[in-house]
Amino acid sequence: MMPAKEARSRKGLAESFIGRDIVSMRDLSTEQVLFILDLAEEYEEMNEPLLKGRILANLFFEPSTRTRLSFQAAMGRLGGSCIGFADASNSSVSKGESLADTIRVVENYCDIIVIRHKFEGAARLAADYSARPVLNAGDGTNQHPTQTLLDLFTIRKIHGRIDDLRVAFLGDLRYGRTVHSLIETLARFECQFVLVSPPQLRLPSEILDDLAALGVRCREEFDPSILPRDVDILYTTRIQKERFPDPIDYERVKNAFKLDREALSIYDKTVTVMHPLPRVNEISTDLDDYEGAAYFKQAKNGITVRKTLLSILLGAAQ
Ligand code: CP
Repeated sequence: MMPAKEARSRKGLAESFIGRDIVSMRDLSTEQVLFILDLAEEYEEMNEPLLKGRILANLFFEPSTRTRLSFQAAMGRLGGSCIGFADASNSSVSKGESLADTIRVVENYCDIIVIRHKFEGAARLAADYSARPVLNAGDGTNQHPTQTLLDLFTIRKIHGRIDDLRVAFLGDLRYGRTVHSLIETLARFECQFVLVSPPQLRLPSEILDDLAALGVRCREEFDPSILPRDVDILYTTRIQKERFPDPIDYERVKNAFKLDREALSIYDKTVTVMHPLPRVNEISTDLDDYEGAAYFKQAKNGITVRKTLLSILLGAAQ
């Protein structure tokens, strides 16, 4: 049986989420992040109808497979249901309706809103207009907090911890929102970073400045064809074609690197290879059965973490 003090603290933490928005990882304290990861361990095999009768609105203004479908599946597994759209061209946005008006209307039809949008700040705006909790499923190049939580959950399952790890971020660090929210969070846990990208896709200077201010150990490398040796995790990202203002710039970097068995032969241990997916050509399929390949595990863990988030935000966590 759980000691009374611990039970009170768990109850207090669970209550701290009720009705909240999660737009950025900065919305969560370190204690809350760890609470979500702990609860997610319990929720992995749990499919009780905690959310029976509750409705999730999935508003996807940008394409998605994993995030949208795993939120939908998470809601279904917990007995709730989903409304929404996967393509805003089929919504009244195509007639000129504003995001603010869309949110004001949709909040009447649901208990919680998940939104993905191409503009940074769109999820925050949605949260400002909604009386229902809003979860950011990716806003432009800014943040993707639920991806970060499932990435952390995956890292902890593999390494037994999320602190004091050496992590290389590889690929499009400029436009990759999954990198932006994950690196800021791992920085709280005394991890060290190697940032490997073509110079034009380096991590935005605001994030570099934040890491420097925190005293985080971080070095940049600008030849992504050379992997850093001193790492536990390679977090790889797709070059985000859709974010480039000029397609010629994309053509210059689109094949900047490729991870395959041969590239990983420099390591005398198994390194964890992560990727939020979808991949294009940056990870060879010959790595799919590599012991350290974690990208499909990440996608699978998405449903566990999203079941947890929906339950705590809707005050149904047990
Ligand atoms: N990782 C991720 O966000 O995937 P989707 O774009 O398919 O949702």
